[in-house]
Amino acid sequence: MPPSLKSFLVCLLSSRATLALLNSQNDTFNSTFRLTAQQISAANLSADTVHNVEVALQYERSNNAGSLIQDDPFYIVPSHYNLDDLPPPGTILKVEVHTNLSLYTIPNSLSMSRFLYVSETFNGTSVPASAYVLWPYLPRSFSNLTACGNYSSDGQPVYPVVGLAHGTSGQTQACAPSGLRNLWDEFHEPFIIALQGYAVVAPDYAGLGVPNGISPYFILPAQANDLFHAIAAAQSEWPSLLSKEFVVAGQSQGGGVAWAAAQRQHNRPVEGYLGTMAASPFTDVLAAIAADSSAENNGRVAGIAQGLNTVLPDFQLSDWLTPVGVARWNLIHEIKGCGITSGQLSAAEGGALQILQDGWNETWSANWYRQAVMNGGKPFAGPMLVIQGTEDPNANDPTTTKSVNETCELFPDSQLQYIRYNNITHVPVLLAGQHTWLDWIRDRFAGVAAPAGCSHQTLSPPRGINGAAFAGWSSQTWFLEYDVYGI
Ligand SMILES: *[C@@H]1O[C@H](CO)[C@@H](O)[C@H](O)[C@H]1NC(C)=O
Ligand SMILES: *[C@@H]1O[C@H](CO)[C@@H](O)[C@H](O)[C@H]1NC(C)=O
Ligand SMILES: *[C@@H]1O[C@H](CO)[C@@H](O)[C@H](O)[C@H]1NC(C)=O
Ligand SMILES: *[C@@H]1O[C@H](CO)[C@@H](O)[C@H](O)[C@H]1NC(C)=O
Ligand SMILES: *[C@@H]1O[C@H](CO)[C@@H](O)[C@H](O)[C@H]1NC(C)=O
Ligand SMILES: *[C@@H]1O[C@H](CO)[C@@H](O)[C@H](O)[C@H]1NC(C)=O
Ligand SMILES: *[C@@H]1O[C@H](CO)[C@@H](O)[C@H](O)[C@H]1NC(C)=O
Ligand SMILES: *[C@@H]1O[C@H](CO)[C@@H](O)[C@H](O)[C@H]1NC(C)=O
Ligand SMILES: *[C@@H]1O[C@H](CO)[C@@H](O)[C@H](O)[C@H]1NC(C)=O
Ligand SMILES: *[C@@H]1O[C@H](CO)[C@@H](O)[C@H](O)[C@H]1NC(C)=O
Repeated sequence: MPPSLKSFLVCLLSSRATLALLNSQNDTFNSTFRLTAQQISAANLSADTVHNVEVALQYERSNNAGSLIQDDPFYIVPSHYNLDDLPPPGTILKVEVHTNLSLYTIPNSLSMSRFLYVSETFNGTSVPASAYVLWPYLPRSFSNLTACGNYSSDGQPVYPVVGLAHGTSGQTQACAPSGLRNLWDEFHEPFIIALQGYAVVAPDYAGLGVPNGISPYFILPAQANDLFHAIAAAQSEWPSLLSKEFVVAGQSQGGGVAWAAAQRQHNRPVEGYLGTMAASPFTDVLAAIAADSSAENNGRVAGIAQGLNTVLPDFQLSDWLTPVGVARWNLIHEIKGCGITSGQLSAAEGGALQILQDGWNETWSANWYRQAVMNGGKPFAGPMLVIQGTEDPNANDPTTTKSVNETCELFPDSQLQYIRYNNITHVPVLLAGQHTWLDWIRDRFAGVAAPAGCSHQTLSPPRGINGAAFAGWSSQTWFLEYDVYGI
């Protein structure tokens, strides 16, 4: 070895003492959480399900930005408010102006605020909820946006508002997207929308986040209330920064919420509304469920059941769930599991156990639910863009197409653009359709007139679908990790 190289290596090695050691990150999400013997027997869990629940719960916990949501004091309503006598919907209760993003995995030019506000239940009563605003570095500029407050902006640009309805994260307090390091929908929705220059205003649906609530899961008009009141609350807090104009968007449950918002806007117009983008939306929820044989369905039905008595006081969980199903949902609430944990518990030992009561779908409460939550066949405020993958196993194409068709037959003058993507599944439709829906949102703010009436298009990639990473997958196949190594 030449002396110069040798002295270089000695020098390099001797500097080692000052180097910080790199920590490896857990990527297998091994569980440190353990179910008790009593929990295991009460919910009749097999050893395999015990293992799966422990791994799933630990994985879900690893997605929190720092502390668990149930341990984060941000979500506690200030004690000077009386929870039984809250101010009107849309009122701000608490604001965190600059959320500490060091433990989130959010694009580095973006910043975030979180707030608590008053929302409105399906039945019109006040309920506390949480939400976030994801702010871009620079607002996208449009010539005639107006600040939402009675305020002269003196030509200073305002941030155009997109109200975002999230997809299903779960049904318990622990499942609020605003406390998850990737905000749950990450690059599929909030990151990409904010990076395009919009302020994303996104509620955690009531029951997620703030303690002691029950999530009225999939009571879509209730989540549409959350969305409108979160936008109003954010506008009241940042009257000179946020635009009065807003577009509503969402996918999956959030697509159903967005469509429900467009129907609500027809009945209860809110000034500033520019239109709705609904991706793989749930419309006739029970029809979509009937066509879906996957185990995920048990979780969805049971998830609806666990919140139904917030709307129907006479409803009991045992109306839809078997005793073991009831026991498993009590466990989910006890351990504050989210969608992946509840999926494992609802998988029912590979179908060996029955979680849902026979005939649950023909009960009075199911009939009420079917009508009350229905999207489609009702008037809505356009324009609305609906995008749908033809291979979607959850919010399936025939159900969505039927809802679009019924709506267009009854209301031929509504502005509804329907685009189907061949070979595309539930979540990837946001990626396949990304430039289309982002352009559509931009056009609404730019004041471009949306086409009149209904239109229907089916698109296929000129090169075919083979080789696309997401072909066949209904969801994403990767997660965001921290970069603790630098480059
Ligand atoms: C997780 O568990 C497996 C099997 O016990 C083990 O091989 C692996 O090293 C563990 N990973 C971590 C990050 O603890
Ligand atoms: C990684 O996993 C192990 C075993 O499950 C756990 O003891 C440890 O606290 C975890 N470390 C981090 C940084 O999460
Ligand atoms: C408990 O689970 C076992 C095995 O999966 C099953 O045979 C038994 O019927 C279950 N008991 C109840 C009450 O569901
Ligand atoms: C943000 O959080 C990190 C990690 O918890 C902490 O080290 C840092 O001091 C915090 N920054 C501020 C400005 O509070
Ligand atoms: C806006 O403020 C001006 C001046 O303070 C007032 O005259 C006007 O009535 C306000 N407009 C609305 C819509 O509140
Ligand atoms: C909510 O409204 C529904 C339908 O209008 C009604 O049947 C139900 O009793 C109401 N629930 C509560 C808690 O007031
Ligand atoms: C309820 O579900 C059963 C079993 O899947 C099915 O045969 C029946 O048609 C459903 N009823 C309704 C009203 O959809
Ligand atoms: C919906 O309408 C389109 C054209 O408007 C038609 O091609 C299609 O067959 C209809 N589908 C259903 C399920 O009604
Ligand atoms: C993609 O969709 C087309 C049209 O429905 C179909 O003919 C083709 O078989 C599909 N390809 C794959 C790989 O699924
Ligand atoms: C912008 O101004 C034009 C002309 O007044 C109007 O037609 C258009 O609707 C406005 N756009 C928005 C987003 O308000």
